[in-house]
Amino acid sequence: MAEAKNLGVVGSGQMGSGIAQLGAMHGLHVWLLDTDPTALYRANKSISSSLQRFVSKGQISQAACTEALRRLEYTSNIDELRSADFIVEAIVESEDVKKKLFIELDKITKSSAILASNTSSISITRLASATSRPCQVIGMHFMNPPPIMKLVEIVRGADTSDETFHATKALAERFHKTIICSQDYSGFIVNRILMPMINEAFFTLYTGVATKEDIDTAMKLGTNHPIGPLELADFIGLDVCLSIMKVLHAGLGDSKYDPCPLLVRYVDAGRVGRKCGIGVYDYRKGSEPMKASPRL
Ligand code: NAI
Repeated sequence: MAEAKNLGVVGSGQMGSGIAQLGAMHGLHVWLLDTDPTALYRANKSISSSLQRFVSKGQISQAACTEALRRLEYTSNIDELRSADFIVEAIVESEDVKKKLFIELDKITKSSAILASNTSSISITRLASATSRPCQVIGMHFMNPPPIMKLVEIVRGADTSDETFHATKALAERFHKTIICSQDYSGFIVNRILMPMINEAFFTLYTGVATKEDIDTAMKLGTNHPIGPLELADFIGLDVCLSIMKVLHAGLGDSKYDPCPLLVRYVDAGRVGRKCGIGVYDYRKGSEPMKASPRL
């Protein structure tokens, strides 16, 4: 496949907006699509301020920032993705919702387009099977936040072609990312290891072993993690963490992947983390540090 020129990104939340930003920073024309206009508005603001931070740190010039912003288009109309060479899906972590989108993308995009998913855990083979082009479907798992984090985990489905793999690797390298490759098993590499640790941190809180602060400090200072597991869960989104645990549980069939009831309760209560202002911790302006019982 010739080098991609036009990138479509579906889902303009934390991940999609960062992936769109990366594309624009590296010379691609980008369409960022979301069904929710408010999410597009937020993405526009967060991309502009992130690019401006790159300028203030001297990592890109003001002209490069302006050019990147010019290369970005925001839309809620899927037909705009017709001319995309490469599409990265970054919508909600639900197999049914993603499959519906892949069916639609398969219909409207050009036959040569590659359809990549940023899924954290869902089977690429099953997403691919919803399309008429399984050899052009692949997992391209960016880390959060995509403009900063160095890793891209590439996941080949059962039918992903070598050509699709090489085009995806080339795109990730254009973004100056380090590539790792995983087989298509639930959670791949990163979340197969990370999510059970986060879930265990919730059990540690739930069973009253320690406070949230001590659990995070234990892992930061005791094991040299840059961020504690509960803070990280808030950053990722507790809804995303819960969805991944459910995928691990369903896909690997072991009770060790049962989501912690406390994680479930937080999500039920709408406390999904930083993106809504409250998760394990309270990020709302002027609020006192959360004193709520770990059992909510
Ligand atoms: P998010 O909740 O911040 O954003 C999801 C966006 O998708 C929302 O703006 C929503 O309006 C939009 N959306 C939902 N259904 C749609 C549809 N059918 N068509 C168009 N837009 C639609 O979620 P986030 O955190 O960005 O995650 C997105 C994907 O990336 C998930 O698959 C997640 O597992 C994966 N991921 C998340 C990471 C994280 O740290 N949050 C890290 C790596 C991957």
